[in-house]
Amino acid sequence: MTIFQFPSDFKWGTATASYQIEGATKEDGRGISIWDTFAKTPGKVFNGDNGDVACDSYHRYEEDIALMKELGIKTYRFSVAWPRIIPDGDGEINQKGLDFYHRFVDKLIENDIEPFCTLYHWDLPQALQDIGGWENRRTVDAFVKYSEVMFREFGGKIKYWLTFNEPWCIAFLSNFIGAHAPGNTDLQVSLNVGHGILLAHGKSVQKFRELGIDGKIGIAPNMEWSVPYSKNEADQAAADRNIAWFADWFLDPVFKGTYPQFMLDCFEAAGAKPNIQPGDMETICQPIDHLGLNYYTMSVVRSNPGGGILQLEPLDMGLVRTDIGWPVESRGLYEALHYLQKYGDIDIYITENGACINDGVENGEVKDFRRISYLQQHIAQVHRAISDGINLKGYMAWSMMDNYEWAEGYRMRFGLVHVDYRSLVRTPKESFYWYQNVIRNNWLET
Ligand code: NOJ
Repeated sequence: MTIFQFPSDFKWGTATASYQIEGATKEDGRGISIWDTFAKTPGKVFNGDNGDVACDSYHRYEEDIALMKELGIKTYRFSVAWPRIIPDGDGEINQKGLDFYHRFVDKLIENDIEPFCTLYHWDLPQALQDIGGWENRRTVDAFVKYSEVMFREFGGKIKYWLTFNEPWCIAFLSNFIGAHAPGNTDLQVSLNVGHGILLAHGKSVQKFRELGIDGKIGIAPNMEWSVPYSKNEADQAAADRNIAWFADWFLDPVFKGTYPQFMLDCFEAAGAKPNIQPGDMETICQPIDHLGLNYYTMSVVRSNPGGGILQLEPLDMGLVRTDIGWPVESRGLYEALHYLQKYGDIDIYITENGACINDGVENGEVKDFRRISYLQQHIAQVHRAISDGINLKGYMAWSMMDNYEWAEGYRMRFGLVHVDYRSLVRTPKESFYWYQNVIRNNWLET
């Protein structure tokens, strides 16, 4: 047995997002988001599932926070639904939306749980999509206005902020691959959207500084770590492109004020380039206080000129997979953390990591041992990275509870707590008790 001791101030946590858990989509003046629209478009989401009820956390947040308390987490990452705060994205402020998040954040603080707030976890007000979404700079300005409302209202109370969750998903998964809202399949649109959110990020960070908010702010990219199938140069370059697609494409602008040239070349060969206007890159490149990393899986890729825009293909290496089909490979998390060091010695939080394991309730218990094994392997890599001197400050398991898994609807379960979507009864899983023990000890046993 090995014991991995964690630093005494290490922030153990869990994460969720508004549309995935809140429900109450028509309550207290909330406006419509692009996910309401997308989920109700036939053929877009498994089983036609939508977030109208989800986990009903809008009403059951006290019960959820009691579970968080029982779990022992130090921090809870959640997102705010922009359409609750400004229902049409850019107009009137909805006091009832602010009141809800005040009640919620106050309850967290009362329970000694540090709120870690994501401003944008994909529920764009539909009215803004109707004017072109992130392609239109009016949406960028509307985001800055919304973030200003949030900073003024919650500054000091919420000390940890993230502007955007998973820019790759917002730009490419949603606008090039088309699997998420709004469902476009156009490379040029995805580059425009990516540029729009980077600009919104930079302007929002500027606003945060200008207002002198007592707190820290950053962004949370997702990285699918990639390794080359062979040592040959072409395969190596293919892996570099895949990594850069998720990370450098967004982080080079944030940290260096430039897009990576080899990726610009790659997109230009496919006839697309970001719509950069004078001053944009300077605006995007604002110093940030921390970086989030969402990590789930790793791919092995080889170069293939017929393999789409990135000219590569992923290979099936026969790794164990979670129930959503993602290969399990924890060393990718460790390598991704080292890779990020090229952006400097910044505080890093694992803002998401977890496994889709669909075990159900039997005799009042959920024996999700495969989730425990996943978490154990990944948390060991977190420890390894900290021992190497990486400034890793916290780990947030995805997810606190089963929830609406976007295009997969409710069939894919990532929670430490099981949710019965008919009765809305919550049942802590074996992994919940396992994680509770890790947090209590502040060490990991393997
Ligand atoms: C990434 C996203 O941020 C989150 O919303 C999603 O549910 C998990 N990963 C699992 O796919």
